[in-house]
Amino acid sequence: MKYWFGSFMLFVMVVLSSHAANAEVGKENDPCKTRVPADQLAAAKAEKNPLEGNAAAIAAGKAIFEGKGTCFTCHGLGGHGDGDAGKVLDPSPRNFSNAKFWDCKTNGEMLWILRNGSPGTAMIPAVSTGIITEDEAKQVNAYERTFKGK
Ligand code: HEC
Repeated sequence: MKYWFGSFMLFVMVVLSSHAANAEVGKENDPCKTRVPADQLAAAKAEKNPLEGNAAAIAAGKAIFEGKGTCFTCHGLGGHGDGDAGKVLDPSPRNFSNAKFWDCKTNGEMLWILRNGSPGTAMIPAVSTGIITEDEAKQVNAYERTFKGK
């Protein structure tokens, strides 16, 4: 009886700890942590997106985000980082509605990620793989800004 109880408790502990590990998946990573390598960070931060706030670019960016860019599959149609393909990822896809993210990330850092991917994450290097062009990266970046605070 004692032995049975011990095994049962062990089983409960294993189930609980695997549950705790699962809870990490889908958890948003610190939005201020940069993924751009240190030697390229200053240049990335200094880059501006000339299409920020441009209505035509935002409309084009929306079509890319929801279409050939496949961004929505991970980041979600509303940009909350909750797309179906993103649910199993750790770290989870960025939540673009988080205002804190926009307080610390620049357009230039985001464009760097679009060109090169995000080291240590599942984020795709969309430009260098030819999924989107350099201009389309700027359009989709302009669109992402519209998720802020939504
Ligand atoms: C396979 C899933 C997936 C797809 C598809 C995807 N992303 Fe991501 N994205 C991620 C993950 C995961 C991260 C990493 C979040 C982190 O750094 O914690 C990320 C990060 C980013 C970042 C950087 C955020 C930061 O904190 O530095 C940007 C910008 C971005 N994605 C935009 C896009 C755009 C635009 C597209 C479409 C062209 C796209 N993503 C497609 C999963 C994806």
